[in-house]
Amino acid sequence: MGRLTLTKLQKMKRQGEKITMLTAYDASFAALLEAAGVEVLLVGDSLGMVIQGQESTLSVTMDDMVYHCRNVSRGSQCTFMLADMPFMSYATPNQAMDNAARLMREGGAQMVKLEGGRLLGEIVEHLTARGIPVCAHLGLLPQSVHRIGGYRVQGREEISARRIQEDAMILQEAGADMLILECVPARLGSKITDALKIPVISCGAGPYCDGQVLVLYDMLGISPGKSPSFSRNFLEGTSNIPNAIQAYVSAVKKNEFPLLELSY
Ligand code: KIV
Repeated sequence: MGRLTLTKLQKMKRQGEKITMLTAYDASFAALLEAAGVEVLLVGDSLGMVIQGQESTLSVTMDDMVYHCRNVSRGSQCTFMLADMPFMSYATPNQAMDNAARLMREGGAQMVKLEGGRLLGEIVEHLTARGIPVCAHLGLLPQSVHRIGGYRVQGREEISARRIQEDAMILQEAGADMLILECVPARLGSKITDALKIPVISCGAGPYCDGQVLVLYDMLGISPGKSPSFSRNFLEGTSNIPNAIQAYVSAVKKNEFPLLELSY
């Protein structure tokens, strides 16, 4: 049996079945996540913070990403594997193509993720036209933390909400096959999910998206520092890590996570 496909994830959206995604950085956790039934493993550049102890994701390199992708790939056989393109690895179409090819060829990723809005349209077109599936990432963009001035909720005002919604449509038109929406009001998450054909995954974007993603170490309560308020410690109330991951999968599937009242 091969890995889960994009076609299956698209079908889950159409059928209203919630998609479960968690970050993974190594083979042991990848195997546990797969055994618990998580559909998508995201090798996120959040590894800069939770694995490397950096203050932001900006110092993560392509070599770091390839290394962690390989580990996750070796630890899993069936889950869909999505990998982050790190900061400044997709500044031009050709640079993006070469680096995305590394994540797929050397790392085993099935899709790459890019942070940013309409300005990335040309790059998304360049990649998808060459057979590289792309996941867009809108809302809070951690790679732009110094521009935004901190990790804060995006799209609260009408004008910024409209811009995020337009960006989502533009990136879908450019060929993006999935979208992660980070830290936006639940109302905006719902609107964008209804408007798009592609699966929309919430990371603090409320309960109405097609699926949910959390940073693994946040949902186990072991990230250094404060976890985001929309996250939940699933280890609390369960006796071990496999049970905590199982509890996350079950809560997402049954629409019991996230709660609307704890969303933005
Ligand atoms: O790097 C990461 O873990 C991410 C998630 C927060 C969506 O991009």
